[in-house]
Amino acid sequence: MKRARKREETFEKFNPLENKTILLGISGGIAAYKACDLASMLRRSGADVHAVLTKNAKEFITPLSLQTITRNPSHCEQYGANGEWRPEHIDLAKRADLIIIAPATADMLAKLATGICDELLTTMVLASKAKVMIAPAMNPTMMEHPSVVHNLEILQNRYRYEVIPPEFGEVACGDWGSGKMASVETIVAAIASRLVSHGAMSGKHIMVTAGGTREPIDPVRFIGNRSSGKMGIAMADAAFARGADVTLVSTVEVDRAYPVILVETAFEMQEAVEGEFDSCDALVMTAAVADFRPLSVSTNKIKKTESEDINLELTKNPDILDLLGRVKKKHQVIIGFAAESEELLSNASQKLKRKNLDVIVGNDITVPDIGFGSDDNAVVILSEDGTRENLTRMPKRAIAEHLCDLLASKFAAMEKTPAR
Ligand code: CTP
Repeated sequence: MKRARKREETFEKFNPLENKTILLGISGGIAAYKACDLASMLRRSGADVHAVLTKNAKEFITPLSLQTITRNPSHCEQYGANGEWRPEHIDLAKRADLIIIAPATADMLAKLATGICDELLTTMVLASKAKVMIAPAMNPTMMEHPSVVHNLEILQNRYRYEVIPPEFGEVACGDWGSGKMASVETIVAAIASRLVSHGAMSGKHIMVTAGGTREPIDPVRFIGNRSSGKMGIAMADAAFARGADVTLVSTVEVDRAYPVILVETAFEMQEAVEGEFDSCDALVMTAAVADFRPLSVSTNKIKKTESEDINLELTKNPDILDLLGRVKKKHQVIIGFAAESEELLSNASQKLKRKNLDVIVGNDITVPDIGFGSDDNAVVILSEDGTRENLTRMPKRAIAEHLCDLLASKFAAMEKTPAR
């Protein structure tokens, strides 16, 4: 009993969301019943919470419940009872620090992705410059539908909305799968992280390299590697979602709202990275750069010869990371990657020192099903200050979020000690 009170006191005293205005948007799904808990936890974390309910949300939960919990009027209608326009909603939208839509139904995602504002909530989202987070909740089959997947991609990659993924489990209709809204604790933690630590990334120029370089042998052949570019793209997306100015230098073509410089060879990657490096606050070098290239590239397709063997003479490529580690300024952070098949820790820590990096992310490429080509990886993160973190198998997207937190903490530390 004593312990419970102590925990409560600690929680009350810790107000990470103090002075933050949060719009809690609720759309019409069964998970709307959790909105009261969410509103309560946000308020107890110090936030000034304003609930905005769609017409369908009111079928699941009452505006009065939310009004009582948030201690603010709940908002539902775009127009007043007499049909008059109510611009105070726009004021609220403008002053919000963050909009969280939980639950976000498939219908809500479609409206947000296409800019439809036929309700107060979607109108407020469009009228606001606040960060937007969405916690989808729906039947797992709906969640997998290509239109929902497509809309989520647009919201994440074009509009920088942060998606708090649904959990796996049994949903209200009895089906199993991924579609259950994330827990209230997960949503509050994501909001706190976004509002407290993400600010440090805002406006920073982050350059990320992705994919494997291809070194031509002749017009049709090249030496390549198995890198898919997924880690780099996840990293660029995560930094962009946090408000960073991102440049992605990639061997893999992607359509994004931030600049993507498409390259093929190590030389092209070097030229692109060196061209942007001076203006960068951080470089995250996830690309698998070929260490060697054919000494000469045949202008014509190499023909089969009488001989059974053919000799390909290779020469060393520039080590981009090594070159930039030498000219790095004090305000710049460089993160390198190390793909190792043996002695992971010692090889990664040697690369960290040799290339003058701030952080190195090492992974063991001999572990099956993760790493190259996979959506998941397991990594060890070593920092120049001697700290070490082990991230067990998780989606590359989650690793990217972790690296963004690390970058944000390094930027925040630099701001505290500008003389560095
Ligand atoms: N890297 C680079 N230029 C190269 C080779 C690698 O910038 N020519 C970068 C990679 O993008 C990665 C880091 O250096 O961030 C480590 O790459 P890795 O291939 O693991 O190590 P190497 O330094 O190439 O050493 P080795 O292949 O001998 O392990």
